[in-house]
Amino acid sequence: MVKIGILGVGTVGASVANILEANADIIEARAGKKIVTKLGVVKNLSKDRGVNIKLSDNPYDVVDDPEIDIVVELMGGVEEPYKLVKKALENGKAVVTANKALLAYHRYELQEIAGDTPLMYEASTAGGIPIIGALRNGLAANHIESIQGIMNGTTNYMLTKMINEGAEYEDVLKEAQELGYAEADPTFDVDGFDASHKLLILASIAYGIDAKPEDILIEGIEDITQTDVAFAKDFGYEIKLLGIAKKVEDGVELRVHPTMIPASSMIAKVDGVMNAVSVVGDCVGETMYYGAGAGGDATASAVIADIVDIVRGNTAPMLGYKKCLEGSAFELLPEEDIVTHYYLRMEVNDKPGVLAKITNELEQFDISIESMLQKPHKNDEHVKLLFTTHACQELKIQAAMVELKRLDCVHGKITMMRIEK
Ligand code: HSE
Repeated sequence: MVKIGILGVGTVGASVANILEANADIIEARAGKKIVTKLGVVKNLSKDRGVNIKLSDNPYDVVDDPEIDIVVELMGGVEEPYKLVKKALENGKAVVTANKALLAYHRYELQEIAGDTPLMYEASTAGGIPIIGALRNGLAANHIESIQGIMNGTTNYMLTKMINEGAEYEDVLKEAQELGYAEADPTFDVDGFDASHKLLILASIAYGIDAKPEDILIEGIEDITQTDVAFAKDFGYEIKLLGIAKKVEDGVELRVHPTMIPASSMIAKVDGVMNAVSVVGDCVGETMYYGAGAGGDATASAVIADIVDIVRGNTAPMLGYKKCLEGSAFELLPEEDIVTHYYLRMEVNDKPGVLAKITNELEQFDISIESMLQKPHKNDEHVKLLFTTHACQELKIQAAMVELKRLDCVHGKITMMRIEK
């Protein structure tokens, strides 16, 4: 018999305990041993968790218990779980964690501490989708060319409702919170940080890149308006918050931002809380992974898969490689060197010569317009100008935006969104 202890019996922790009980037969058949939850740890013992397991409010009752074989960390936060996971590993216990923030900051130290002790984290990225296993095991023969995906269920749920139903931002955010998709602090979802944690984990397995969230380009969904949605529809795009890791000549691009993507692409059709990740390998070509990216049972499914793998003795090295991955070949590409297509929205005077001034500014930075739309604004003297550019360097579009803002004919903020073709 294998005994586990669960640190954090919230939505996911309760699902783990309940599924281990409800599906005990099939799980035992697959793992080859019976798996039982010896203890769960919570902050507040008086709250009903809807589980049939013993509870404690002291995490060391799990971490230091010699009878517990596997510690399941589902607490959230970074420093406290780091301390406890470290202690559990030092005590020789295998660890399963769903904590993407912990891994976004400490994955390399934890790999070092773990050594040959299993440390698994399938549930940290894209909820129930077995993307870590796919990248670490299934695609082990490949050089990874790109990873692109919807890695946050809350924002995909919000964007779907805003785009398909014209729903208001605040209302859909509240719904996502009520459904249990959002983080305790939902700004992590809408600002793109949650997706960045997941992207960094995948980028470590694919490219061995040791970056932290503050090292990469992260933008959230808060500036998207119905004007952008309508433009995207007219020009054959969908808007999705994407995590992108792409190998280019001089390094690897890592970025999270709202993105216009062709409405005909598979990822564009992924709606609601669902996540989808496309991985392109040099041998296999494009592979796609789709499923629930948030929610108690879906995430618990991935947690239990890790537990079963540990019990079977099937563990891979934590980040999927035993020695340095391709030497120092993969460097994080500086943000300003990213090359892509851009969409710009600005409010301008409705007067002769205004377009010429704007295109003249863009010409100074060698930026070429691909498509353009002018829309009346509620203020009769102004119009909204929306356009897309041919591929250009991030450095140039950022500099051009600074200059455009200085023009007398341009009013207020200029909104920019990147386009992936
Ligand atoms: N808040 C996250 C999401 C939960 O919405 O995807 C899963 O990591």
